[in-house]
Amino acid sequence: MDIVVFGIGALGCLFAQHLQESRSTIAPADRFGLHIYGTWKSQLEILSQQGLRLLHADGTESQTQLPVTNDLDALPAADAVLVLVKSYQTSKTAALVARVLKPQGVCVTLQNGFGNREELGKRVGEQRVAVGSTSQAATWLGRGYLHHAGNGQTTLGRNRHREDLQQQLTRILRNCGMPVSLADDPGTILWTKLAINAAINPLSALLQVKNGQLLAHADCGRIMQRVLFEVCEVAGRQNVNLDPDDLNKKLFEICRTTAQNESSMLQDMRNKRQTEIDFITGKIVAIAKNYGIKTPVNDILFQKMKRLEEGVPAPIDDVVALVDQL
Ligand code: PAF
Repeated sequence: MDIVVFGIGALGCLFAQHLQESRSTIAPADRFGLHIYGTWKSQLEILSQQGLRLLHADGTESQTQLPVTNDLDALPAADAVLVLVKSYQTSKTAALVARVLKPQGVCVTLQNGFGNREELGKRVGEQRVAVGSTSQAATWLGRGYLHHAGNGQTTLGRNRHREDLQQQLTRILRNCGMPVSLADDPGTILWTKLAINAAINPLSALLQVKNGQLLAHADCGRIMQRVLFEVCEVAGRQNVNLDPDDLNKKLFEICRTTAQNESSMLQDMRNKRQTEIDFITGKIVAIAKNYGIKTPVNDILFQKMKRLEEGVPAPIDDVVALVDQL
């Protein structure tokens, strides 16, 4: 099969590197071609010139030449597309995916945030889109130099129209050393990931700490728990029943496995890039409002992040004081 990865940010590069390095060990029936598409100019330059330098979770390093391009016409017709662009780029990317994906192909979104499936579905067709989520963690240490900070779980939501391809993709990703499972309920996958990102990402960006450090902060533990409770209530209205205790355990496990990672939101803040706050907390707050549900803790985090994006600092003590007043 031919696989195309869309996105040359941290996770796009991480998945592409793992796929590229595992090609020599794949079973003959699962052999695949690999291409990576991106438009980030300086990143393309460094990846084309030097390849990707990866600091693995075990402390070893490798250098991999990745088949990157910004020329859509240079891509083969794809059996499988992995979408790993930022949520705010999905709409534009969907039109490009529609041009390269085979009629019988599958496009898997592994992005953060809500609304990606719908955006892709509009251009690619719902039958060819599968949701997924990943807790793989990667942080840029320098130009072209990436740290694989946690080998987190990836879950692919079963799409009954494309199950054979998804099974094959699962085998291919497992052969890369990535923990991957196929699950039946896309709603649960999406809301679980949304809840985890809503708990970790804004707080880590406001505090400017790695994911693991959130666990050491008593106030953060409390705030994250309240975020999860609020998300469970909103998800429930969409007939997705999440158990707050399970979710809380998952959150702690992800903070532990990605302890050395700077969340994507913190990395975006540091690099003065647009964050995905509108597609994570912003979506939760907006959906809750439609149902008349109150989400005061998510509201505070959303407002503080929006201020931080404008350059106004939001000390954690202010956030804690506001939450305690509720
Ligand atoms: O956005 C992120 O950074 C990631 O989704 C996760 C799993 C929170 C790890 O940092």
